[in-house]
Amino acid sequence: MAVVNRRDMCYGQEQHVKLAVFMQLILLLVCYGVGNGVHCSTLQENSADLQSLLDFKMGIIEDPYSLGTAAPTSAGGVVSSAPLDGHGLNLTDKSLAGKVSSSLANLTSLSFLDLSSNHFFGQFPLLNHLQQLETLYMNSNSLDGITPDTLTNCSKLRNIDLSGNQLRGTIPPKIGSLTNLEFLDLGNNQFTGIIPATVGNLTQLQFLRFRDNQLEGNIPDGVWKLSNLTSLVLGQNRLSGGIPQALNLPILLLLGLEENMLGPVLPPNIGYARPSLKRISLFSNKFEGHIPTSIGNALGLQILDFSKNNFTGQIPTSIGRLSQLSKLNLEMNQLEASEDQGWEFLYELRNCMSLTMLSFSRNNLQGTIPHSVANLPSNLQVLLLGGNKLSGIAPPDNNKLDGSIPPSLGYLTQLLVVDLSCNNLQGSIHHIGDGNLKQLVKLHLSSNKFSGGIPDALGQSQNLVIIQLDQNILTGDIPLSSGNLKALNILDLSHNYLSGTILSALNDLQLLSKLDLSYNQLQGEIPRNGIFENTTAVSLDGNWRLCGGAVDFHMPLCSAASRKIERKCDLVRLLIPIFGFMSLTMLIYVITLGKRKSRKAYLFLFSFGKQFPKVSHSDLVRATGNFSNSNLIGRGSYGSVYKGKLTMAKIDVAIKVFNLEMRRADRSFVSECEVLRTIRHRNLLPILTACSTIDYRGKDFRALIYELMHNSNLDRWLHCGHAGVVHKGLSMDQRVSIAVNIADALVYLHHDCGRPIVHCDVKPMNILLDEDMSAHLGDFGIASLVLDSPLTSDGNSGRNSSIVVKGTIGYIAPEYAQSVHASTYGDVYSFGVVLMEMLIGKRPTDSMFENELSITNFVEKNFPDNISHIIDAYLQEECKGFIHATRRTGNATYKCLVSLTQVALSCTRPIPTERMNMREIAVRLHAIRTSYVEAIKK
Ligand SMILES: *[C@@H]1O[C@H](CO)[C@@H](O)[C@H](O)[C@H]1NC(C)=O
Ligand SMILES: *[C@@H]1O[C@H](CO)[C@@H](O)[C@H](O)[C@H]1NC(C)=O
Ligand SMILES: *[C@@H]1O[C@H](CO)[C@@H](O)[C@H](O)[C@H]1NC(C)=O
Ligand SMILES: *[C@@H]1O[C@H](CO)[C@@H](O)[C@H](O)[C@H]1NC(C)=O
Ligand SMILES: *[C@@H]1O[C@H](CO)[C@@H](O)[C@H](O)[C@H]1NC(C)=O
Ligand SMILES: *[C@@H]1O[C@H](CO)[C@@H](O)[C@H](O)[C@H]1NC(C)=O
Repeated sequence: MAVVNRRDMCYGQEQHVKLAVFMQLILLLVCYGVGNGVHCSTLQENSADLQSLLDFKMGIIEDPYSLGTAAPTSAGGVVSSAPLDGHGLNLTDKSLAGKVSSSLANLTSLSFLDLSSNHFFGQFPLLNHLQQLETLYMNSNSLDGITPDTLTNCSKLRNIDLSGNQLRGTIPPKIGSLTNLEFLDLGNNQFTGIIPATVGNLTQLQFLRFRDNQLEGNIPDGVWKLSNLTSLVLGQNRLSGGIPQALNLPILLLLGLEENMLGPVLPPNIGYARPSLKRISLFSNKFEGHIPTSIGNALGLQILDFSKNNFTGQIPTSIGRLSQLSKLNLEMNQLEASEDQGWEFLYELRNCMSLTMLSFSRNNLQGTIPHSVANLPSNLQVLLLGGNKLSGIAPPDNNKLDGSIPPSLGYLTQLLVVDLSCNNLQGSIHHIGDGNLKQLVKLHLSSNKFSGGIPDALGQSQNLVIIQLDQNILTGDIPLSSGNLKALNILDLSHNYLSGTILSALNDLQLLSKLDLSYNQLQGEIPRNGIFENTTAVSLDGNWRLCGGAVDFHMPLCSAASRKIERKCDLVRLLIPIFGFMSLTMLIYVITLGKRKSRKAYLFLFSFGKQFPKVSHSDLVRATGNFSNSNLIGRGSYGSVYKGKLTMAKIDVAIKVFNLEMRRADRSFVSECEVLRTIRHRNLLPILTACSTIDYRGKDFRALIYELMHNSNLDRWLHCGHAGVVHKGLSMDQRVSIAVNIADALVYLHHDCGRPIVHCDVKPMNILLDEDMSAHLGDFGIASLVLDSPLTSDGNSGRNSSIVVKGTIGYIAPEYAQSVHASTYGDVYSFGVVLMEMLIGKRPTDSMFENELSITNFVEKNFPDNISHIIDAYLQEECKGFIHATRRTGNATYKCLVSLTQVALSCTRPIPTERMNMREIAVRLHAIRTSYVEAIKK
């Protein structure tokens, strides 16, 4: 249709005239550039130019074979080519720019007009004289205004596509008079207001798409009765209200209502009489209650996405009838299963032979994953169960003949992505990682209680790109000797108990870009080539027996490390300059206690303010069920943290047990005692007592006992959801309060408690949340008291501390790469990073931050224009809820977001002295919180 060939050129005289008019109009309405957007609005006034160009056009018409091959002329860079035929004008994707002239309205005989995919801008032309028009495509331009009457008389219109412009205002209700419409797409614009009820008059409509606008109010009843509809696509608006029980959409294929505020309940009959429905997408709405069983009657369903709602109850077994189903996403709801019931659906899913993606992440699924997981269809590629309360994977019924117990998931030979992170899974990874998972691409098992060794088989998986096994209790070596993991990009084994040396096999992994082995018990020399050349890509902190490697790792030289130095003498030598004489006395006391190999358990009590009953080793054993894994709640820098209940005092506590086998753990204990003994602030983790004694076996034992923080830590809230508690994540209100709390704590440490104290490890994992969601800064294991440094005028002590800074990768200030002195500026930087992480919901070590892109310059680049697009999904939702008719203005959440980002950016300036100090930051944050709280009250 677009290319006019010679046969089609047998026009009569009348046709010739028509063509001439067409061409003239083309000139009037378009500005034609070879490259992007050459404008030529002056042409409209210049009739001489016009005439000559018109002649030029006529020339082209006579030579149809050159049509479509645009050639620039000397006249203002104007070129032309006009694919047209007798009824319509098709200029799609011709790099045209300019305003669309209303002279188009004189082309009354036009039956189709296609100006899509160009660079037209300005007002939409008045076209109501085009009474023959059946098809109008103006999509993918930059038009911004539309008058209500523009198409009123075009009653023959069957297809309208205006999507992908910047059209504003309300959708003209007169659209309902175009009763021949079959296809209507106004998506990806900026329409506001409601969907006009007159849309219900468009009874011929088959395709209705208003997706990605800012429409609000209910979906008009009439829309639910457009019985010829096959696609109803209204996602990404602010629509509210529900789906009526009486709906008549017998041939609907696609129902896309995601990212609105629809709710609260789905009609029980939603699945009945809907054999044609292939895809239903309701994610990010406000639906609650049970998922209707009738959904199992929509037998043609291929994609079912109910994620990010508030559905409760059990997952209906009827979904097992959906034999065409390929993607089932129910994540981020409050769906339930327990050890005894609620898991039946998993067994029923065996019938969904086309299933490739299955997500139940962040729900309230508890108990053991039944062995029916092994019966899931073998095509399954993605299985996501993270952020539940799963406690194990049942061993499968063993009907294999070779005698070995096949791992449950091992039957799923097509699995590419497995996410079981943030559960309470116990036992060996062999259940998952053995043998049959060679095709696996991503394996996320972080934050569980997996124990034992890393299976050798994992090292054979040539396709693995991401392995995350961090925050478990894994032991043994890193078995990656074969170097088979050729595709590996991210390897996170941090916060485990892995030992042995770092094998040079890791050097050979060409694609490895992030390696986190921190907080393990690795030893020996750090390799020097491959990824180990790049100290920003590798984290080795908390492995106190490593040595050598690139200078920036700040590890001791290997020769020195291998010399047998008496550990405790070393400690004393290090600590005298740091803690002064008083601390030394205390330290000696600790050491002497440790050395006295008496059978009797000793208790060492610091004076932590109010009297607290003495606590013995056996009290702690009782309180924690002999330090059982089920009571393990986290891993600190130098040991493990258990929860427990001290029976005598009837109080829930968190007990941090120092692992004294780690070099410097004892020093960390002393450091933390020293810091905590002298300070007290409502936003610092309250310590109850300390315990330095000897355990049953006569070994030294050191523990600190804190009040238990019932709401875990900020890291878990930001990255694991918090299944079953508040699945929607943190509100802006909560986030800004947490920021204020931590800023207050840091002001106190830096400015108000005598000698400035540098925390050195400000990160979400060290920010603990109590029952009221107040934040408390904890973990002073590497804090440093800044001594002997003249305070500068702003209260900061610029430098001077002989402690080697050991923060956490991603949060460490850049200057620490060159100098090793702890300073309050460093804490300010880390605080800024935490603030960014709280807003965008991404860790600074996220895989998206690669090469030149760091969390700080990512935020900087997107500030302020795109900031609302890069934030955490929950916050986006909240921002959306606040946007009123005029975009962004008056939006309290958005304003708060911008102000917080500003603070974060000024905390993370590369030059330390350019950063604000904590006092200034706290003042700003308090002001931001106050104005936010006032704004949302209104
Ligand atoms: C215009 O031409 C393109 C191909 O160049 C075609 O895909 C499109 O359907 C045509 N538009 C109309 C309205 O016929
Ligand atoms: C449209 O046609 C009318 C007369 O039929 C004429 O007066 C008017 O100038 C034309 N408009 C344009 C923009 O060519
Ligand atoms: C179109 O719809 C509106 C509102 O639903 C209704 O009041 C009106 O009568 C309808 N018009 C026609 C022509 O059917
Ligand atoms: C659906 O479309 C068919 C043919 O396009 C038409 O005959 C029928 O009237 C339409 N249905 C309704 C309810 O208008
Ligand atoms: C989700 O539903 C539960 C119980 O029905 C209710 O208590 C809770 O407030 C709801 N949460 C949200 C975010 O709507
Ligand atoms: C080092 O690693 C970091 C983080 O992965 C990356 O941004 C940087 O480009 C790497 N540098 C070199 C020289 O490879």
